[in-house]
Amino acid sequence: MRFGSIIAFVALCSFTAYYIYEPIPEDIEERWKLMLTNSFFRSLSHLADLSELLGLKDYMGVMYFITLAEKIVPMSDEHIKVTEEQFDGVDVVLYQPKKSDGDTKLRTAVIYLHGGGWCLGSSLMSPYDLLARKIVNELDAVVLSVEYRLAPAYHFPVPYEDVYRVVKHFLHKGVLAQYSVDPGRIAVSGDSAGGNLAAAVSQQLQKEPGQQVQLKAQALIYPVLQALDLNTPSYQQNQDMPILPRYLMVRFWSEYFTSDRAFFRAMMANTHNSPESSSLLKFVNWSTFLPARYHRKYNYSAPTVVQGEEALGRGGASRSLADPRASPLLVPDSALHSLPKAYILTCEYDVLRDDGIMYVTRLLSAGVEVTHEHYDTGFHGGLMFTVWPTDFLIGRRMTENYIKWLKENL
Ligand SMILES: *[C@@H]1O[C@H](CO)[C@@H](O)[C@H](O)[C@H]1NC(C)=O
Ligand SMILES: *[C@@H]1O[C@H](CO)[C@@H](O)[C@H](O)[C@H]1NC(C)=O
Repeated sequence: MRFGSIIAFVALCSFTAYYIYEPIPEDIEERWKLMLTNSFFRSLSHLADLSELLGLKDYMGVMYFITLAEKIVPMSDEHIKVTEEQFDGVDVVLYQPKKSDGDTKLRTAVIYLHGGGWCLGSSLMSPYDLLARKIVNELDAVVLSVEYRLAPAYHFPVPYEDVYRVVKHFLHKGVLAQYSVDPGRIAVSGDSAGGNLAAAVSQQLQKEPGQQVQLKAQALIYPVLQALDLNTPSYQQNQDMPILPRYLMVRFWSEYFTSDRAFFRAMMANTHNSPESSSLLKFVNWSTFLPARYHRKYNYSAPTVVQGEEALGRGGASRSLADPRASPLLVPDSALHSLPKAYILTCEYDVLRDDGIMYVTRLLSAGVEVTHEHYDTGFHGGLMFTVWPTDFLIGRRMTENYIKWLKENL
């Protein structure tokens, strides 16, 4: 009996150790806490793979548990009025500072787009709710958090189009007046896939014929910006990093475009480019746009381009791949120079580091005002980790610096 429990205990320990142990760099703060947090994500990902293999529930369906676990019902408080509404048919959560009588002051506004690889996440997750409230309180701003529809149920361009519809609706002068928002002081912002949507919306809005109100700023937190080269130095260096390993990011990309598993496998091998996207590879050439210190030990080799039948079979996904509304890096400089000023946050231990840095380089050379904040010991998703028990010091620092930039630039 005792012997049996010892065996069980040892088995449990080695099982736990297997899941917890990760080659996490020494310089990451609160390393043990990150290992534990990550072991939860890894176990869930393995469970999701198993569930899909057994035909029980698809991978993203299981991963969605992360979203459900943190969902809350947004409530008004002493200072903030919170309402759930629909803007042009799309769900949004609106946070407004409560006014005292006779207050007619116009306010700034932040349109916020949550992360989660276009497949997971919600405005109603407690870290996003908390962040929205912080922005309202510190900037006396209106925050509009968009509950766009998600892949794989809704592939690209649906999530993007939901966001674009909301932004266009909100930027009507009459609507802004209704919420006492100053039309000259509106920002769009988002983290990870939300940063992707924020960058894409900023680009499209400046091309919109007859658009009177434009954005003043875009704040992109470890954004995803291109799907053409999934072997940049940061993808290689950080392929097994906590929270967002390369496998998961590639999975998000492929699910955004298609549920075809062959496309996922091609993306994993970085052989997913077709003649349609090959002429755009120059816009994501890291040997040109990444400062030499980020090249590390890696040598540039252009992604393989597939021709003929195999490429044709991918039809829709190939077209999406070449679309700048999915990959904002894929536009010429002439489409960048009139963009609103930008804040770009990147993390060293993140597969998406080089996406962000390449956009910094490209925006700067197109003449856009850019603030680049790089966290040498940062990991992907840091800003989300502000709620006990998964609260990290770096998450708090990221939040403070990000809000400080918004305060000074909006
Ligand atoms: C990438 O850039 C390097 C040097 O800047 C150049 O030699 C190479 O031809 C470029 N490749 C592509 C596909 O643009
Ligand atoms: C990169 O190229 C250099 C010079 O050709 C070579 O010495 C080095 O081994 C290459 N690095 C990798 C990781 O392939």
